[in-house]
Amino acid sequence: MSTDYEFNHRHLLGLADYSAQDIQYVLSQADRFLEILNRPVPKIPTLRDKTIVNLFYENSTRTRLSFELAQKRMGADVVNFSSSSSSVSKGESLKDTIRNIESMKIDMVVVRHSSPGTAHFVARTVNAAILNAGDGAHEHPTQALLDMFTMRQKFGKVAGLKVVIIGDIAHSRVVRSNIIGLRKLGAEVIICGPKTLMPPSPDELGVTVSHDLEACLEWCDVAMALRIQMERQGQGLFPSLREYHERFGIKKRHLKEFPNFTIMHPGPVNRGVELESEVADSERSIILNQVTNGLAVRMAALYLLSGGQRI
Ligand code: NCD
Repeated sequence: MSTDYEFNHRHLLGLADYSAQDIQYVLSQADRFLEILNRPVPKIPTLRDKTIVNLFYENSTRTRLSFELAQKRMGADVVNFSSSSSSVSKGESLKDTIRNIESMKIDMVVVRHSSPGTAHFVARTVNAAILNAGDGAHEHPTQALLDMFTMRQKFGKVAGLKVVIIGDIAHSRVVRSNIIGLRKLGAEVIICGPKTLMPPSPDELGVTVSHDLEACLEWCDVAMALRIQMERQGQGLFPSLREYHERFGIKKRHLKEFPNFTIMHPGPVNRGVELESEVADSERSIILNQVTNGLAVRMAALYLLSGGQRI
């Protein structure tokens, strides 16, 4: 694999720390891994001498499976730790777990936690490469990388794309990482949703704010819908899921009215809330491509942070 770019990161804690060139480099490495995944035997020994622990303090289906499969496709030894966020006293048990990790020879840690800054804390505490798989409403860098990879695959490039991100902006780590990454790569971003689901100072995010879904669908190349993060919000931020769907859900009729936009969603999709079922399953949706590409992007990130034994 080409080594013409100096990739100097030890961790992937958030896209805030990565330059446009770093992001492009990860995406270009992911192209190679996608090609490997399409081989009859999609396995390589790149991480054969590495031990990786997946620490999931918050629920996850896709992200955890995707990381684990990426690690196994690359021959790593994998240990999984999951805990439901409600049943542990988080601060204490995280410290305990980290002490244990320190005592074993662990090379890389993938961590998801409901508290913003957890991945940074683990990076300061443990001598291993840390990948943030989501820290509260802060960042989810591999999700944004796979989203940008999928846009680039569909449209050829991210620069100049018009992207609207719809829904629970205030509580979403996916939107935060995407805004950072998409702006660095030169996309135009609008965030759209009810006023009550916008962060306190949306202007600071450097994007345009809209409350008019149909105007956004007419304007955009990509409409990325987000799940309402019930677990991260208090009561009463919108009247009901039904009303939310009425105003901000993408419906089958929108596909006819606005023939150009492509649909994305990080999952899990609440059918009938952010997307009508027919929209999620339509030919305009690239949601399952996002899942496939997630594997390639995570393989690329693991490869680059493992110290890069050549493939
Ligand atoms: C997202 C997450 O966990 O932040 N999902 C994911 O990683 N695939 C979005 C969500 O939970 O709504």
